[in-house]
Amino acid sequence: MNRAAPVRWDRLIRNVHLATFEPAQHGSQDPQFDPDYGVVRDGAIAIAGGRIAWLGAEAQLPPNASAAEEVDGQGQWLLPGLIDCHTHLVFGGNRAEEFEQRLQGVSYADIARAGGGINSTVRATRATGVDALVAQARPRLQALLAEGVTGIEIKSGYGLDLASERQMLQAASRLGAEFGIKLQRTFLGAHALPPQYQDNADGYVDELCQTMLPSLAAEGLVDAVDGFCESIAFSTAQMERVFACANALGLPVKLHAEQLTNQGGAALVARHGGLSADHLEYLDAAGIAAMAAAGTTAVLLPGAYYFLRETKQPPLQALQQAGVPIALASDANPGSSPLFSLQLMLNFACTLWGMTPAQALTAVTRNGALALGWQDHCGTLARGKRADLVLWPLQTPAELAYQFGGIRPSQIWIEGQPQQVQS
Ligand code: NIG
Ligand code: FE
Repeated sequence: MNRAAPVRWDRLIRNVHLATFEPAQHGSQDPQFDPDYGVVRDGAIAIAGGRIAWLGAEAQLPPNASAAEEVDGQGQWLLPGLIDCHTHLVFGGNRAEEFEQRLQGVSYADIARAGGGINSTVRATRATGVDALVAQARPRLQALLAEGVTGIEIKSGYGLDLASERQMLQAASRLGAEFGIKLQRTFLGAHALPPQYQDNADGYVDELCQTMLPSLAAEGLVDAVDGFCESIAFSTAQMERVFACANALGLPVKLHAEQLTNQGGAALVARHGGLSADHLEYLDAAGIAAMAAAGTTAVLLPGAYYFLRETKQPPLQALQQAGVPIALASDANPGSSPLFSLQLMLNFACTLWGMTPAQALTAVTRNGALALGWQDHCGTLARGKRADLVLWPLQTPAELAYQFGGIRPSQIWIEGQPQQVQS
């Protein structure tokens, strides 16, 4: 007789429906659901060493396997942890006064030109130490985690000098360690022209490339490099220099591109093999083609679109037709998206732009991971990936995009470890 050796898992979650976001593997199993969810009904998932060790229909559980702990999912839905792949979560102060100005008719760009906007948050951030930056960002992060976020990107970019950018990245590192989440720290030194370089953008780019980025990278504080390519920020030629410096340091790049005007930033970041181009309301056909050819993810930010009362929609259909993967993120920041909710972004993307719930949920799981270069580690339910799992009290996954408010995870596991769930 040929009997398989016994298998012992750390944890087995049974009696759950799985939305794997692996359509190629599981997409056609249940015609009731959009294939993008990759549904496995009446499923189970096993965890060993913080990774997914097995998943499938509960009826197919290998008879030789057992687990140290079993969890009854009570027929709820299990999804991969959500990924917020574009945030500016660490900053000092707030910009409620500018919100009032904007509602009296002053534009976001005009406020920035008059020394407000990003630079007003730079003044507040520079005046805030690391401890206070962590303390101020903690409740923002907790708000995201309470909605099932288990992976996040946090940018610098409100320091704009070496010491202050360092403090922001240190604050991000501390938050990542405190909550045990998967974190990407992105250096956004090219966010705005700081006051000390008012009429000397190229001089600032020199300092950024020669001193700031190499120092912070050497200190192990930088996982990726971003910039703001815009008429009120940096040109494509200036961003090209920043990207060359990032490439030389072996750091992946991404870009805030075509948010307010079309500058050709998406094509630039694609040319540099970028992870993502973000915002993209003013993206043109050439930019879409460049992104498709390079495999650069489009990160769409419905919070900033909504909060700035933008009327030009990103070219969603053209991106989809070109096969560009689409991610969604909160863009959580004090100026253009003081909205600390990824669930709200799901609803916005569907109601404002016509994404389907399955597309929107794919955009904060599978494609959120892709936008951060994490596709081998998380973002879907697949054997070998991190066991970052969220159990939801839903009848169908679409409810997560449909209802805003009142839906909270029943249980969260990060690398297989159960987390305290806020009720
Ligand atoms: O993603 N576009 C530039 N950066 C941020 C806004 C920053 C701010 O206004 O403070 C964004 O929208
Ligand atoms: Fe942003």
